[in-house]
Amino acid sequence: MPAPIRAARGVRDVLPAERAAWSLVERAAHGAARRFGYQLIETPIIEPLELVERGVGEDTDVIAKEIYFVQPRQGSEQRLVLRPEATAGMVRAYFQNGLNQAPPPARLYTIGAMFRHDRPQAGRYREFHQLDVEAIGEASAALDAEVIELAAAWLRALGLEDWTLEVNSIGDGACRPAYLELLKAYYRPLRDQLGPDCQRRLETNPLRLLDCKEPQCQPLRERAPRIADHLCPECARAFVEVRSLLEAAGIPYRLNPYLVRGLDYYTRTVFEFQHRLLGGAQNSLAGGGRYDGLSEVIGYRPTPATGFAAGIERVVLTLQELGRLPAAEPAAELAVLADGPDLAAPVAEVARLARPAVRTLTDASPRSLGAKMRAAGRAGYRWVAILDAAEAERRVVRLRDMDSGQQRELRWEELPSLLGAEPSPAGVAG
Ligand code: HAM
Repeated sequence: MPAPIRAARGVRDVLPAERAAWSLVERAAHGAARRFGYQLIETPIIEPLELVERGVGEDTDVIAKEIYFVQPRQGSEQRLVLRPEATAGMVRAYFQNGLNQAPPPARLYTIGAMFRHDRPQAGRYREFHQLDVEAIGEASAALDAEVIELAAAWLRALGLEDWTLEVNSIGDGACRPAYLELLKAYYRPLRDQLGPDCQRRLETNPLRLLDCKEPQCQPLRERAPRIADHLCPECARAFVEVRSLLEAAGIPYRLNPYLVRGLDYYTRTVFEFQHRLLGGAQNSLAGGGRYDGLSEVIGYRPTPATGFAAGIERVVLTLQELGRLPAAEPAAELAVLADGPDLAAPVAEVARLARPAVRTLTDASPRSLGAKMRAAGRAGYRWVAILDAAEAERRVVRLRDMDSGQQRELRWEELPSLLGAEPSPAGVAG
């Protein structure tokens, strides 16, 4: 026998018990997004390498180290990748499908899988899922505050209150270039004290020196020039506005002058929601910001935009740490059990009659009725309907209320109205 094949490293199965928590998190996400007027959109998991590379930035970890290439069986002209994030694809979809023709902004959101080939650890996976929210087409700082408020509303709806929100402004094309020169001038004499990654970044992506987690690099940033002191009047004004809107919305935040984010497309406002329970370097629940330059680098008209993405796994993990996960609901409310052999057809018929009213599963296996009843007790079904050959002949079942233990005989046709005339929801998908 070949060795059992296991899943790829860094990916995980979400089993039914945990999936219930995901459903809760997703339902809350849909609810929050809709309450703010955002519409659901789906974009492909596979995108052209060029889109992601130009969108996210070639010198980011995401592109330099973590991108997954899709290898078609036959050579293809276009190099394809698994999306490491959704924003570049959302902007592409916005233009390609003419959403830019409608009055701005387009308020869009999606929930789906992203892929990054990073070293797996708790809270960091190679396949993970994001809620991604984007407001495309308007430069207003009010939209930065809006997406932050949406994220906060979602987390609060889930009972997550004690996150910290960090905000910063990293300027724009008008003020950042001069600041970057100052930053380089500060770090160049310190070059030998920097780690190898930062030595390289010093010339290619100096902003990233500020959020380097290496112990040898971190202390050096304290005396580095701060972008907040070098913003142009427009950026400074926008940042003041974002902060005052957050204050008006009752959203506490902390200024973090070192917050720069790991993707290259950001301008002006950047932010991150963190939670202490996630711990370590993976403490970010959500992150985002304004990215006014992205559309242009992927070949479309310059278009301001802002948004954020949150890790579904990390939100579920935090809820789990807090003991806030919902109990997994039983697979069904009613189980129809065969008491004897060759009863598959009547058992299926009873279940068919009951399903408009309650979630119903069947057991016509040859196991003993005792074993089936024990399994039903453990599974937490509310009712059990039992039938043997004679009862099938008479078209009746023994209906047992599993809480009270009361049992009564009733005709098959009576089942739906007795169990609840209202059709029960089909249950949360997944
Ligand atoms: P990001 O900071 O790269 O931003 O990712 C956002 C969130 O996704 C993180 O805060 C984290 O919760 C989750 N996440 C990222 N990588 C992993 C991983 N390997 N395993 C588990 N969770 C992970 C973006 O992706 C931007 N596209 C956000 C954005 C939208 N900016 C503007 N619009």
